[in-house]
Amino acid sequence: MNNHPLVLISHELPAAWIAALTDRYQVLMGPRTSAGGGLSAELLHALPTAHALLTLLTVKVDAALLDLAPQLKIISQMAVGVDNIDLAACTQRGIPVGHTPGVLTDATADIALTLLLAAARRTKEAAADARAGRWGLWEPTQWLGMELRGSRLGIIGMGAIGAATARRAQAFGMEIVYHSRTAKPQIEKELGATHLSFEQVLATSDIVSLHTPLSAETHHLINAAALAKMQPHAILINTARGAVVDSHALQHALENGIIAAAGLDVTDPEPLPANHPLYQLPNCLILPHLGSATETTRRRMAELACINLLRGLDGLPLQHCANL
Ligand code: DGY
Repeated sequence: MNNHPLVLISHELPAAWIAALTDRYQVLMGPRTSAGGGLSAELLHALPTAHALLTLLTVKVDAALLDLAPQLKIISQMAVGVDNIDLAACTQRGIPVGHTPGVLTDATADIALTLLLAAARRTKEAAADARAGRWGLWEPTQWLGMELRGSRLGIIGMGAIGAATARRAQAFGMEIVYHSRTAKPQIEKELGATHLSFEQVLATSDIVSLHTPLSAETHHLINAAALAKMQPHAILINTARGAVVDSHALQHALENGIIAAAGLDVTDPEPLPANHPLYQLPNCLILPHLGSATETTRRRMAELACINLLRGLDGLPLQHCANL
């Protein structure tokens, strides 16, 4: 085996976050950003001799890319979601794929609550009205929003982030229902949450918050038919992956009063072009995929990605492996 394995990091990361790697290995790091979020020409050129690859969620890792990297022993993604990676192709080649669950749970749930609160209280619309001179005297019936206490939050996908979001919402007095592939008795006990069918969650929740990974099963899970099942006053929150929601169907639902509002930290496509009609809607608040964007969380994600990568190079089980 080569005594000096080459480690590729798809995009620039602060030196302090990746010290564990640079202390031990020769590291080639990509630029801060790249066209389409993929590997730069320099990194593509280095793939044939690379032993490890640290990726961001913008890097499409498919069979064609893997074929360029016959020596790869480990792919370590700095994200919990791995929908950009062809896991089956990695498994077929015996390459473990690391990812970073857990460390971004609180930061992402905080953003889900940010969107939930903002959408429930119509802050985008009210702030725009104020700025545009539509703030007259205090009026009893203007900008009336949804009272969280006593409202029902429906969580789709009761994993760690779904549960952390539910905990926060419960502190605001919300009732929690959820749909998940498997029931979560612990969470039911802790939060008094009720496990319902997907359709029941949609039909009875005041706010629906999405926390499923993106897969063939969840692609456009929230389509026109699903939106039609929701209540006209209901709000949709998405901090999972943009393509879990059909953007066109959502736009139609928001424009036609099928649902009341949406709060999105993820969109399809990403980035959402500046001229996209969803931005124009007063009842649609869009953030640029910043769920995990705190210094503490991003550093933890990078450090965990380094741990997974080092373990992979050492032939040890990863701390968090998405495939093998
Ligand atoms: C993830 O880790 O999958 C998140 O989307 C990054 O914020």
